[in-house]
Amino acid sequence: MAIDQRFLDELNARCDIVDLVSRYVSLKKSGSNYFGLCPFHNEKTASFSVAPDKQIFHCFGCGAGGGPIRFVMKIEGLEFPDAVRFLAKQYGMEVPEDTADRGQRQRRDRLLELMKEAARWFYAQLHAPRGKAPMEYFVRRSLSKRTMNNFGLGYAPDSFHALLDAMTAKGYTKEELFAAGLIVRSPKGTYYDKFRNRVMFPIIDIRGDVIAFGGRVMDDSKPKYLNSPETMIFNKSRNLFAMNIAKKTKSDYFLLAEGYMDVIALHQAGFDSAVASLGTSLTEEQARLLSRYTKNVIICYDADNAGQNAAQRAIDILGRAGLSVRVLRIPGAKDPDEFIKEHGAEAFRKLIERSENHIMYRLQNIQDKYDLTQDDQRVLFLKEAAREVASLENAVEREVYTARAAKTAGVTAQAFSIEVKNETEKRRRFEKKRYQREVRAAADAAQPKDRSLHYDNIRSARAEEGLLGLIFADSSLIPELRELITPAEFSSPLLGKLYASACRLFDEGHQVAATALEQELTSGEMDHLAMVLRKPVPGEKRSQAMRDYVNVIRSSTAEDDPDSLLRIAARKRKQTDK
Ligand code: CTP
Ligand code: MN
Repeated sequence: MAIDQRFLDELNARCDIVDLVSRYVSLKKSGSNYFGLCPFHNEKTASFSVAPDKQIFHCFGCGAGGGPIRFVMKIEGLEFPDAVRFLAKQYGMEVPEDTADRGQRQRRDRLLELMKEAARWFYAQLHAPRGKAPMEYFVRRSLSKRTMNNFGLGYAPDSFHALLDAMTAKGYTKEELFAAGLIVRSPKGTYYDKFRNRVMFPIIDIRGDVIAFGGRVMDDSKPKYLNSPETMIFNKSRNLFAMNIAKKTKSDYFLLAEGYMDVIALHQAGFDSAVASLGTSLTEEQARLLSRYTKNVIICYDADNAGQNAAQRAIDILGRAGLSVRVLRIPGAKDPDEFIKEHGAEAFRKLIERSENHIMYRLQNIQDKYDLTQDDQRVLFLKEAAREVASLENAVEREVYTARAAKTAGVTAQAFSIEVKNETEKRRRFEKKRYQREVRAAADAAQPKDRSLHYDNIRSARAEEGLLGLIFADSSLIPELRELITPAEFSSPLLGKLYASACRLFDEGHQVAATALEQELTSGEMDHLAMVLRKPVPGEKRSQAMRDYVNVIRSSTAEDDPDSLLRIAARKRKQTDK
């Protein structure tokens, strides 16, 4: 389903790639380009660059490249049309749709409408006479009327068809209710309400649409919570509970809790930046979502083992999304909700102030494993602590925590710092090796499996790349170049294809730019084009440069290129060997 190229041109023109990429990557300007750490692979040195004049990004490390739409596809994990919609929305543009897309869209809108109706209905049940018990339940859990309204809390009555009846009366079909995950089908093929006799928590996305529900029993029966299944409108790994409210916070940190009730209790206590993942452990996508709104996250998971293990995992995931992480310990209570109920909001604020940055948190965890009154255990503690401290990027931080850990174990900072230095060195060597391995792997991956990407003739291919660089920098050269060479004469089919595409864009009156080809090129082809376009282009005497390149291409026909001769010879030998 192609999207009108004129629309894409307009979208690319409105979008500023530096601004877009900066929302995910911290960029530094150098010359006319920007550099940063590649968000698509793990790296320590900045091999990721953005060229605003060409509206492209490219990573020398992993080879990823393209324009704004390609960037959104990669970083948000979206398909082309969704990435276009995502970008268009940010620039207040509406994507022209063909009929198939429109059908999808209307279906989505209809399901969202149904979810909103269902949320209203659950809310009404809570406030109806039969909502007495659930209302008492919420009151027992110390929720105010205002909090209940803010979160749109509701009640699903103890019935197999109350919601089904209410929604079909409003004109929704069983099929729609099923697609929205509101009813389930028995083996006999009859439909009934999924949520029964549960208090209801609507899950609302950042646009404000109700996309799912969580339902809790009011006693000890199982399962305690029941959540909507994944549907056309609900992807649980991409959303966070209460993000619709928290995104408006003025606080410079977000609180990440485990449960719905924790989040609600936190908001009621004035912590309006609390969110929770949706009955699963934190995902990379959720971490990225958070990183769009804040730089700092304080994890306040349950105090039990499961919660603490989940915190360790969350630290890594949040760290990878570039967030700075602190971890809060909740003394003498199971979770934030219980703590606040017992000790109040002020006490919780003190916990936040005392929350440890993730390294102190980890040091504390290591310390808990050993009996520091025993010499042998102290040695083990110091070894493990040294590894942890060595993992810090910042030398000042390393010094601070070296001193702290040494003090904990009762040794001098000097002595301990030798251990830390050794570990730091080891890590560096390891990182370097890993980096080299990654670059090699990336180079291998970039090695075309597809024959169209093969360079049979390196010299000619370089010249062809030079030509592409020139015409993408200045499309007015195209008519002249066409007189000199055709795409079929290019030695590399991929480069020939790119040349033909450039000519086509020119003929159709589009801008000759990588961004204009995002729809038709594969990811590998786009990566390659971005790489080609990152090479410097002669600033003047371009027409002469063009002629020189063409001469190189013509003179390096397969026969007289030594590189190619060797290959041909090798191929022949292989054939005769068989
Ligand atoms: N959860 C779930 N399904 C379950 C249990 C839990 O999806 N059967 C999810 C819910 O999102 C819940 C979170 O995990 O909010 C945390 O679970 P838990 O710690 O057991 O519940 P609390 O948040 O403490 O809930 P409550 O205070 O209501 O008992
Ligand atoms: Mn709880």
